[in-house]
Amino acid sequence: MKQSLIIALDFPDFIQTEKFLKQFHSEKLAVKVGMELFYQNGPSIISFVKEQGHDVFLDLKLHDIPNTVKMAMTGLATLGADMVNVHAAGGQMMMEAAIEGLDKGTSAGKKRPLCIGVTQLTSTSQEQMNVEQNIAGSLEDSVLHYAKLTKQAGLDGVVCSTHEVKNIHERISHEFLTVTPGIRNAGGKTHDQKRIATPEQARDFGADAIVVGRAITGAEDPLRAYLDMKAAWEGISC
Ligand code: C5P
Repeated sequence: MKQSLIIALDFPDFIQTEKFLKQFHSEKLAVKVGMELFYQNGPSIISFVKEQGHDVFLDLKLHDIPNTVKMAMTGLATLGADMVNVHAAGGQMMMEAAIEGLDKGTSAGKKRPLCIGVTQLTSTSQEQMNVEQNIAGSLEDSVLHYAKLTKQAGLDGVVCSTHEVKNIHERISHEFLTVTPGIRNAGGKTHDQKRIATPEQARDFGADAIVVGRAITGAEDPLRAYLDMKAAWEGISC
């Protein structure tokens, strides 16, 4: 999923998802199925999207005791998603258990899905982290700390904001995937996101993939919005 613009399919049902995807004709997409769609439709949504030829990031952000996460990942590995994730706050043992579960659930000869750790949500501000999570210090330090833990646990990368990408690549590895939500066009509505950036900024910071939801799904012409964002992300002027 490197260099992808991942569209967040944040829809409540199959009908809306199907209608949305139809607008993209034969375009091969990278899409994200999150809690909203997965919890209301169940696992069949993954095979539906895969049958359309798209890559799938299954964004369920698992966070539980290690054994539960391991068993859940064993099941998720059979669904055909290309990438899954956990909350890094669940700890190193939990993340190692996630990988064990994915390895166990991946059939022989197949590649296990990539697994990444959510550091601090892009909707979290510095003040919220300090006060509500009771974590002292800067957001950047907390994200880097979780990224290091994620790397130690053997995961493939992290979800973070674009503002933390450079630090993570320099301090951990340029090969460590950074998947960045909170993407908006210049002057676009921020909604509940706090640590936002434009696709051009994401590219300049060196993000490996961007996740875009409402700026595309809520646009009057989602295909146009997608093509414009993709061009900005890829550095092509149209
Ligand atoms: O509409 P918007 O572009 O803000 O959607 C961002 C998507 O990325 C949502 O599906 C959200 O759940 C997800 N996400 C996020 N921040 C994270 C991890 C995932 O916004 N740290």
